[in-house]
Amino acid sequence: MNFYDVINKRSSERSFKDTPICEKKMGRIMEATMKSPSWKNQSSYKIILVNEKSEKDKLAGAVMNDGNNGENALREAPMVAVVVGNPNVSGKIGDKEYYLVDGAIAMEHLILAATNEGYGTCWIGAIDEATVKSTLNIPDEYKVIGVTPIGEVNKHEAQDSNTHMSDHVFINKWENKFNKDKLN
Ligand SMILES: Cc1cc2nc3c(=O)[nH]c(=O)nc-3n(C[C@H](O)[C@H](O)[C@H](O)COP(=O)(O)O)c2cc1C
Repeated sequence: MNFYDVINKRSSERSFKDTPICEKKMGRIMEATMKSPSWKNQSSYKIILVNEKSEKDKLAGAVMNDGNNGENALREAPMVAVVVGNPNVSGKIGDKEYYLVDGAIAMEHLILAATNEGYGTCWIGAIDEATVKSTLNIPDEYKVIGVTPIGEVNKHEAQDSNTHMSDHVFINKWENKFNKDKLN
C-alpha cells in the first residue's frame, strides 16, 4: 500500500476476528512506532501490549459507555495496545503538556503501521484510567493516553471523519481559507 492508501484505509474499527496477531507484523508495527518524534527526543511514552484474554476483558470492562461499542472492540481483538506517558519526562509550555503530544504521535504511528499490515484499530480514550493502571501494573507517574485494539476486522467500517479543508485550513491569515482547487 502506498502512504495515502494507508491514510485512506484507516478507520475506527470496532468488530474483530480472533485470529492471532502475526508476531513478525507486530514487531514491524512496534519498530515503526519507535520512529515517532518526541519532545527533546525523550520518548516519554511506554506501550503495553496485551494479548491475555483475562486482561483484555478487564480493559474492555473499563471502557466508559460511549455508545460506540469500544468495549466490544477490546474484548474481541486478539491484541490491545495501551499507550501511557510520563509528564515528568516530557516538557510543558504554560499549560500545554507535551507528554500527550508524544504519546499521540506514537499512537498514530502505531495505528498507521497496523493499517499497513492489514489490521484494524480504534483509538479509545473513554476508559477508566485507574482500572487500566491497576490491571497492567502501570507505575503511578504514568498517565493513560490511549488504548487501541489491533486485529483482523470482521467487517471494514468506512472512515467517519467529516473534517473539511475549508473549515480547518487557512493560508497566511485566519480569514483566508486554503483552497486546494486553486493550486498550480
Ligand atoms: C483522542 C481520541 C479518542 C477517541 N476515543 C474513542 C472512544 O473512547 N471510543 C470510541 O469508540 N472511539 C473513539 N475515538 C474514535 C473516534 O470516534 C473516531 O476517530 C471518529 O469518529 C472518526 O472516525 P474514523 O476514525 O473512522 O474516521 C477516539 C478518537 C480519538 C482521536
